[in-house]
Amino acid sequence: KSIVYEESVKSTQEIAQKLSYEQKPEGTLVVADEQTGGRGRLGRPWQSPKGTGIWMSLILRPDIPLQKTPQLTLLAAVSVTKAIYKVTGLNAEIKWPNDILIKGKKTVGILTELQAEADRVHAVIIGIGLNVNVTSEDFNEDVREIATSLKIESGKETKRAELIAAILEEMELLYQEYLRNGFGLIKLLWEGYAHSIGRRIRVRSASQQLEGVAKGITDEGILLLEDDDGKVHSIYSADIEI
Ligand code: BTN
Repeated sequence: KSIVYEESVKSTQEIAQKLSYEQKPEGTLVVADEQTGGRGRLGRPWQSPKGTGIWMSLILRPDIPLQKTPQLTLLAAVSVTKAIYKVTGLNAEIKWPNDILIKGKKTVGILTELQAEADRVHAVIIGIGLNVNVTSEDFNEDVREIATSLKIESGKETKRAELIAAILEEMELLYQEYLRNGFGLIKLLWEGYAHSIGRRIRVRSASQQLEGVAKGITDEGILLLEDDDGKVHSIYSADIEI
């Protein structure tokens, strides 16, 4: 397995996609010190200032059907949450599908991209953006209110290499568990870290806006929302407001 380290790239997702097309093996990791065009979900930009965060993309090649790939995003979220606790002692919470919050503010974003043909998955590229030693001045004004970092929350610098190692260790363990025994344990862990389960939330997507109580997730990683009439909706992709 190899780690590709870059000082400055547009996006580690882009590099990992390219390496994956070149048949680089599962486990290949791209890490950058800075991204000039980091991308978030739903076409949003992801600020990735130099030397202060973990900006990385991991190539996985699981032999699973396409509709199960959201499970891997949840696996990554659990791994990062555990690693943050191990290294810093901070308790983070997961907000469906893939944000990690500390005290209600976003600390980590995860972006999963696929290379697939028909129902065959060639690669799952898991991009993790983690605000480690980012200061509030580093954040653009538009995200300052809603974003935070490990440094802001703990008052201490965290060594990025140590945290990357801890994340990879957790991911490796959970990925082996996943390949061997399926999603069961990961789903339980995820629900244990989840911020919204059992709470009232509002979800907003391009096609709908719904309000109700988040009941849990399905085996496929789909969010179940019960509205006030007791009807349960399956949410595949949306933004959650609390
Ligand atoms: C989100 O919350 O919208 C997801 C953000 C994902 C950011 C990471 S940083 C490393 C990787 N490279 C990118 O361009 N994006 C992901």
